[in-house]
Amino acid sequence: MTTATTPNVQEDLQRIAKKWKDKPGSLIMVLHEVQERLGCVPRNVCLELAKLIDVPVARIYEVVTFYNYFKTEAPGKHILSVCTGTACHLKGASKVLESLSKELGIKEGESSADKEFHLQSVRCVGCCGMAPVVMVNGAIHGKLKPESSGKEIVAQYRGK
Ligand code: FES
Repeated sequence: MTTATTPNVQEDLQRIAKKWKDKPGSLIMVLHEVQERLGCVPRNVCLELAKLIDVPVARIYEVVTFYNYFKTEAPGKHILSVCTGTACHLKGASKVLESLSKELGIKEGESSADKEFHLQSVRCVGCCGMAPVVMVNGAIHGKLKPESSGKEIVAQYRGK
């Protein structure tokens, strides 16, 4: 397991922390956003978060380990997050999901047997003008052709 977060991840954590820091009882929301972004909430990220949102790290672990929803390890090397927000939904998000699912032979919420890919759906990622959108490891792929999106995206990341 890595012990440091990359600059990109740190930026994201800072952004998420800033958004929620002053809202009471927002720890769950923070953790949801972190997991949507990273696919999991690893130990080193909990340590960073504790500093950023001023919550004891023990409390963060407690929440992360209590809910089955939260994962502490990345479920796959490449996290494919299909946006199912309104704009993406209207532009064929379900077909994008279907296309990726068919290409990888897995369902939403599952990882490929070789752990290379994990497929999940997420709420609006804030790039509605580029709908339909898939976020891969934090990078946005937009204006996708729903039917061929699975082949195109998987080909770009397989073996990388
Ligand atoms: S609805 Fe997909 S990016 Fe906003």
